[in-house]
Amino acid sequence: MRFTKAIVRTPGASMVDGLTSAGSGKPDYAKALVQHAAYIRALESCGLRVTVLPADEAFPDSTFVEDPALVTPAGAIIMRPGAESRRGETAAIEQALAGFFPNFERIVPPGTVDAGDIMMVGDHYYIGLSKRTNAEGAAQVIAILEAHGLTGSTVPLKHILHLKSAAAYLEDRRIVLGGELTGRPEFSGFDIIPVEDDEKYAANCLWINDRVLVAAGFPKMQAAIRARGFETIPLPMSEFRKLDGGLSCLSLRF
Ligand code: GLY
Repeated sequence: MRFTKAIVRTPGASMVDGLTSAGSGKPDYAKALVQHAAYIRALESCGLRVTVLPADEAFPDSTFVEDPALVTPAGAIIMRPGAESRRGETAAIEQALAGFFPNFERIVPPGTVDAGDIMMVGDHYYIGLSKRTNAEGAAQVIAILEAHGLTGSTVPLKHILHLKSAAAYLEDRRIVLGGELTGRPEFSGFDIIPVEDDEKYAANCLWINDRVLVAAGFPKMQAAIRARGFETIPLPMSEFRKLDGGLSCLSLRF
């Protein structure tokens, strides 16, 4: 597969009030803007046409555009984010996606889903059951996928924020797995690229058209991915990490 487009949203100054469990202080907004600009350049260097949405100060976490929508080859699904403070992010994402997709499916109450919990593996979608994504929401996603000839299955999570906090699919049956997902039977049969415990954050890397964006400062992860023949693009992510955010969270790719 190849991606041709991405949507991102410039972080707002209100990001300093974003949700977090990281305990590493508030992000430095000026530094976050620089890191976000480098992220956009990396997407462009992978051949993507990037739509940059303006900062939305009303929603401190709205730079993490991956969570409010899932984009599949069969169309877009508007999520119902698990955190109350993020529910309102969906309206603007729907508006942005309307330029690319004619119709939308929607997750409805009592379902909640953050698309950061959804990992696409070809025609199959793994859905983490987390504090943000409940069983009802996952069942709705699976029903929508199946109506379009796709499939889904759930992966119960214990501690991590989202499924993709500890996993990344690098195409051709290669999966980066770390933390609580290490050794999980759901992923037996894949070519596993393990993440060492002292580099857990780097599990959230991002395959784009045979290159892999990796958080800077995690040399073992980078070496492991390069050893599989990929060119890697290291990107500084310190300010988004303070909000539990990773590389995949910052874009919608399609
Ligand atoms: N700060 C990102 C999130 O918790 O959803």
